[in-house]
Amino acid sequence: MVGIFSLMTGLPGPSGFGSASTAEQVTENVDASKLTAIITGGASGIGAETARVFALRGAHVIIAARNMDAANSAKQVILKSNPTAHIDVLKLDLSSLKSVQAFADNFNAMGLPLNVLINNAGVMFCPHQLSEDGIEMQFATNHLGHFLLTKLLLEKMKSTAKETGIEGRIVNLSSIAHHHTYEKGIRFDAINNKDGYNDKKAYGQSKLANLLHANELSRRLKEDGANVTINCVHPGLIMTNLMRHSFFLMKFLQVITYLFWKNVPQGAATTCFVALHPSLKGVTGKYFLDCNEMKPSILARQETLAKKLWDFSEKLVS
Ligand SMILES: NC(=O)c1ccc[n+]([C@@H]2O[C@H](COP(=O)([O-])OP(=O)(O)OC[C@H]3O[C@@H](n4cnc5c(N)ncnc54)[C@H](OP(=O)(O)O)[C@@H]3O)[C@@H](O)[C@H]2O)c1
Repeated sequence: MVGIFSLMTGLPGPSGFGSASTAEQVTENVDASKLTAIITGGASGIGAETARVFALRGAHVIIAARNMDAANSAKQVILKSNPTAHIDVLKLDLSSLKSVQAFADNFNAMGLPLNVLINNAGVMFCPHQLSEDGIEMQFATNHLGHFLLTKLLLEKMKSTAKETGIEGRIVNLSSIAHHHTYEKGIRFDAINNKDGYNDKKAYGQSKLANLLHANELSRRLKEDGANVTINCVHPGLIMTNLMRHSFFLMKFLQVITYLFWKNVPQGAATTCFVALHPSLKGVTGKYFLDCNEMKPSILARQETLAKKLWDFSEKLVS
């Protein structure tokens, strides 16, 4: 209820920020000039705004995208308003395990440190489709690709944090849609099945997986004593290309629920807050909405489910 009230009014929550805050506002005094950040899906929507604001605060940004033309255009747009921005673009198709491996190899070959990983790319409400690895597309892109990417970049993040003394941060873009999933959360026995597939629940399942992945990894990082955190965000409702498979439904929804929608600079605020704000030092395994911590669903808080998904994902990527 408090969430809905602050969403409609834009009033700030305990963090001092709320649904009306923009990515620039929540990072106003942040110096990111010592940071290198990878932003998946950084060529459009929330990811592109996140890349712009990271660069504005001085970070070296790597836009990871499957569409290199779009990534280069996003880079040019940023450079136009910020000619000293430090931006690279690298090819990454999260629906292909081979492409994720190639991305990690290419990134590691650049010899750069890695402080921040924003697992932002995503697809929503696709009709049933299998990835080139034979995995249902929303699970493959939104969860499994990011699971493997994070796994392949983790040692680099840990060693960067150790060498620099700067806390590494991973942010998974989940969604409030994680509440709307299959009955048991994840369809482990039927993950790729067309039978019983529901495009909305499959999206919710993949977004629940983003939360479970973050919780289990957060637990493991703490156990390791690594100076790296991982948190999840729901960015809000923002009209972006994400709606391409359900454009008319979402447009209709936007008309009747217009008070709940944000613009893109507001949509990138929670990601930028969680990734860059000094007040979140040491905070890990949490879920944020409108720049404030929020409780996710009961399923998202189940440790056994998180462990089961971890083992399941490990098998799929190996
Ligand atoms: N917009 C919202 O209301 C909303 C609400 C809750 C959560 N989210 C989450 O926020 C994140 C960003 O979404 P957005 O609204 O900014 O949507 P968007 O503008 O469509 O951005 C998503 C990005 O992901 C990229 N992408 C999709 N499939 C990919 C793949 N296989 N490999 C690499 N990149 C891929 C897209 O690239 P292409 O252009 O090539 O497809 C695009 O750049 C998503 O994870 C989404 O689930 C959004």
